[in-house]
Amino acid sequence: MGVEYSLSLWGMTLLILSGVYGSDWAVSYPRRTICTVRGSSVIIRCSYNYPKEFTVHSQSVQHKVTTVMWCKTNTTCNENISIYNSDNEPFRQKIVYLGNKQKNCTLMINDVEEIDNGRYKFRFQTNNPGGQWTGNPGVTLTVSATPWKVKANSTRKKDTFKEGDSVTLMCHTGSCFPTTTELTWFKNGQPISNRQTTANTLHFNSVSYEDYGNYSCASKANTSISSPQFSLDVKYSPKSTSVSVSPSGQILEGSSVTLTCRSNANPPVKNYIWFKMSSAGVQETGQGQNLTLAEVSSGDSGHYFCGAQNKHGAENSTAVVLAVAAKQNPAVLPVVLVVILLSISALVSYICLKRKRVDPSEEESNRNTDTEETKDHTYGNMVPSHNPKRTQEQSVNEEDDVNYSTVHFLSKTTPRNELPFEETEDASVLYSIVRT
Ligand SMILES: *[C@@H]1O[C@H](CO)[C@@H](O)[C@H](O)[C@H]1NC(C)=O
Ligand SMILES: *[C@@H]1O[C@H](CO)[C@@H](O)[C@H](O)[C@H]1NC(C)=O
Ligand SMILES: *[C@@H]1O[C@H](CO)[C@@H](O)[C@H](O)[C@H]1NC(C)=O
Ligand SMILES: *[C@@H]1O[C@H](CO)[C@@H](O)[C@H](O)[C@H]1NC(C)=O
Ligand SMILES: *[C@@H]1O[C@H](CO)[C@@H](O)[C@H](O)[C@H]1NC(C)=O
Ligand SMILES: *[C@@H]1O[C@H](CO)[C@@H](O)[C@H](O)[C@H]1NC(C)=O
Ligand SMILES: *[C@@H]1O[C@H](CO)[C@@H](O)[C@H](O)[C@H]1NC(C)=O
Ligand SMILES: *[C@@H]1O[C@H](CO)[C@@H](O)[C@H](O)[C@H]1NC(C)=O
Repeated sequence: MGVEYSLSLWGMTLLILSGVYGSDWAVSYPRRTICTVRGSSVIIRCSYNYPKEFTVHSQSVQHKVTTVMWCKTNTTCNENISIYNSDNEPFRQKIVYLGNKQKNCTLMINDVEEIDNGRYKFRFQTNNPGGQWTGNPGVTLTVSATPWKVKANSTRKKDTFKEGDSVTLMCHTGSCFPTTTELTWFKNGQPISNRQTTANTLHFNSVSYEDYGNYSCASKANTSISSPQFSLDVKYSPKSTSVSVSPSGQILEGSSVTLTCRSNANPPVKNYIWFKMSSAGVQETGQGQNLTLAEVSSGDSGHYFCGAQNKHGAENSTAVVLAVAAKQNPAVLPVVLVVILLSISALVSYICLKRKRVDPSEEESNRNTDTEETKDHTYGNMVPSHNPKRTQEQSVNEEDDVNYSTVHFLSKTTPRNELPFEETEDASVLYSIVRT
């Protein structure tokens, strides 16, 4: 009794272990349902198995597969209803057998239509007269007449999301959900490569403003079989707020300047506010996207920044420095010419004298004087500066730094620039004379 029991246990174990890899008759389909849209190519994966040998008149004979076929049927597959039969010429060009006569029975159907809807079964026959097997229950193919669709799986109404929401986009046909990874995703027409997709979904743990855009899914094998665009509408507070200045470049006293505030926000920015920082503190100087300063004077010089606001929040830009340069006075021009001529003659006489005698320490002191004078006449222009979040004192102190960093020589009209040169000239001349 004990022996009998263990023997039957052995038999059961062998039965379980066999399956496709053992010696039993079997057809196995890894996927039982396939959901797709019209025009796609479908691959029905399939493998099969049969005993290695059979016995005829107590002689062992090797099993060989003689015929393989596929049917579309609810009942048993036979040669009269087959859609593919290795014994016949293929009669439908779009049905391609990718398998073989050993273990693989994979079938491909190209350019599927609704008439291809149904249940597909594989059948094979061997050299054993009784050796035939149909793989039940088969694979159900559902082909949708409409293209792929994208929908969002979320709790929000009307598919509008806020930053931080968890969002899952799903690709489906309207009648079924594909369970494969034979789909590919696009954002604004570009393939998405940097994001993990699982089966037919695209998941955002915490959606960000950068995810805002139009999404579509398509068949990997033929990306022209695509869904319409799905707009992932992520609402967000203003980002990348910045100020630009028009005209750019040097700003002369009396001219007109427009500062424009730009920001990325959804919904678009509702209010723009302008601020000016001065020694008196931060003052609001206007509203609206543009701040126009007509007939600027040196009093308009300073740090400006804007704030952008929508119903989800606000953001301030970094500050720009507006430096108004003194207007050039045409009356100064003749004076300048005279000064230049004087300078040249002074230079010539200096060079002549220097050829006679050169004192290096004297030269050094001349150069220093020149540099200092030049600095006095250096004007900065528009310089994007630090963040206004810093303290007021800092910002005022930094103004000098900023001006030095953009060196513009606007001062050629100012005679003072040339004078030190002459004076030191004289000194050196005198000195030379004394030394002689
Ligand atoms: C891709 O699909 C389109 C639309 O169904 C079809 O016109 C085209 O021939 C297909 N291309 C390939 C390579 O299958
Ligand atoms: C096959 O079965 C399905 C449901 O099981 C049914 O909808 C369909 O009409 C059947 N097809 C045929 C040809 O009998
Ligand atoms: C297939 O058709 C032939 C001839 O029409 C018939 O003799 C045969 O019995 C059919 N086979 C099956 C399995 O129905
Ligand atoms: C069967 O053949 C198909 C097509 O050639 C191939 O993609 C698949 O990997 C094969 N399956 C197995 C189990 O070898
Ligand atoms: C979204 O899909 C997942 C599984 O795909 C499901 O568990 C979840 O309940 C769905 N959420 C909503 C809001 O439909
Ligand atoms: C998304 O599509 C809509 C029209 O469907 C279009 O107005 C919008 O500009 C598109 N957005 C992007 C980021 O391409
Ligand atoms: C702001 O100024 C720019 C030119 O600098 C102009 O194109 C734009 O229309 C102005 N915007 C508003 C709201 O006035
Ligand atoms: C923008 O700057 C103004 C003036 O300093 C301040 O009152 C406001 O709180 C700032 N806004 C943000 C969002 O930092």
